[in-house]
Amino acid sequence: MSEIKYSWQDDTSRLDQKLQNNSYSDCYPFHMPGHKRRTIDFSNLYSLDITEIEGFDNLHHPQGILKEAQQRAAALYGAKETFYLVNGSTAGILSAISAALPRLGTLLMSRNSHKSAYHAVCLRGLETVYLLPAPTEFGVSGSVCPAHVAQALEDLPQISAVFITSPTYDGITSDIRTIAEIVHAYNLPLIVDEAHGAHFAFSEEFPESAISCGADVVIQSLHKTLPSFTQTALLHVTSDRIDVDNLKRFLSIYQTSSPSYLLMMSMDQCVRYMEEYGAAQMEEYILLLKSFYQQAKSLKHLKVFDKTAVSEDVCFDQDISKILISVGDSQMTGQKLYRKLLNTYHLQMEMCAGHYVTALSSIMDTAEGFHRLTRALKEIDEKISVSAGNSKSGSKVIYGSKRPGRSKLLTSNDIYQNPKPQMPIALAMEQPSERLALKASTGHISQEFVYLYPPGIPLIAPGEILTGKIISIIDQCQKLGLSVEGLSDQTNQSIKVVTL
Ligand SMILES: Cc1ncc(COP(=O)(O)O)c(C=O)c1O
Repeated sequence: MSEIKYSWQDDTSRLDQKLQNNSYSDCYPFHMPGHKRRTIDFSNLYSLDITEIEGFDNLHHPQGILKEAQQRAAALYGAKETFYLVNGSTAGILSAISAALPRLGTLLMSRNSHKSAYHAVCLRGLETVYLLPAPTEFGVSGSVCPAHVAQALEDLPQISAVFITSPTYDGITSDIRTIAEIVHAYNLPLIVDEAHGAHFAFSEEFPESAISCGADVVIQSLHKTLPSFTQTALLHVTSDRIDVDNLKRFLSIYQTSSPSYLLMMSMDQCVRYMEEYGAAQMEEYILLLKSFYQQAKSLKHLKVFDKTAVSEDVCFDQDISKILISVGDSQMTGQKLYRKLLNTYHLQMEMCAGHYVTALSSIMDTAEGFHRLTRALKEIDEKISVSAGNSKSGSKVIYGSKRPGRSKLLTSNDIYQNPKPQMPIALAMEQPSERLALKASTGHISQEFVYLYPPGIPLIAPGEILTGKIISIIDQCQKLGLSVEGLSDQTNQSIKVVTL
């Protein structure tokens, strides 16, 4: 039977048509989701979409097929108990923080955490104490130092849980094993946002998963790095330091009462796929990755991040699946490199920052995809012009710091300033406020978040002082075309500040 073609199929103002066009295009996805659009092709997804009918269990009260599916995931990852998340790691982070601390309690958290952690802080009226990640020579945020965790816990007995993001959006991990030992000495729970590390358990070439390093709750987005639908994630519990009944209560609050069976099916497929083929597929993928990194060494100007180029105390370990490509000593910016890769080579990157782009790879990537990326980078590298004053940089890698003869490229080290909190986030959000032009808000207390998306880490949170430096950084980020979000004024010209 010939396929029916409806008139709407040429209408690119329609999302369905636009998605189909994208799926047929030659644009290669170096971005999420980790399935890279390559898993089972169902002809009619609607035919599978149901609600909790007889025989299909209930995610909020699992007793049958969904209970078994979650147990299968727990066994695969070595967790005591695992929960399906249909609203991404976001729902897991909200639930874990909510369950681990009393309302109005104090959370020790890495500052470079995803906005969902801040939203949990806000919803539960928590006080925050921040762990600042070490700046790296590459210009991205590095690891959290275990000694800082120890110091904070010694100084502040009111802390009742610790939250660490490892790996970061850039793929840098912290020494979770040591941090877990420190936190457990106080009998407190350690929650690790491992949203970007669901693949760690399947190869020794990746950092060790927080699950085996002793974290009490670990949250992983399957959709980011493994073959599973967007929004799918897992929350693993490994100890008794968190009350599971309380956790379940919060999961039922933050997750929809109508979890999608398509999403749950995708998680079950992903877990089964990794069980059966994970190890073998990983081997092939690691070979592709290693070959890519090897070839990238011959680039003269562009630089691919490699942890051996930075010191171990700022980068405990690196996830090589996240490929960070710096503009190095060239005249380019991250945005220009991103556009070039997209427009000329049809390679869609995961994101661009001021001085680098991120290509997110996964077990589902093909040799052809890696080949296209390698070839594109070599061609761009050959044609690149070198910035004045840096032409003799040779093997000395310059990663987006101050350069003579050109404007400074913003690195994460510049963007993420030490916060100056004046009041808890929730309290600031509930205060009377006024709207000021951003430029006129120096010295005021912000009532709003400002973050770059991705990665969704705040430049400033409610309750913190808007310094001249922060305001200038927000301005520079906008001028660079980075995606500044969080302000209620969508034009980003004004900000709500607390009226004292
Ligand atoms: C570090 C980190 N944690 C958590 C999340 C939230 O994950 P999800 O999109 O699965 O809700 C993100 C999203 O980008 C992230 O980068």
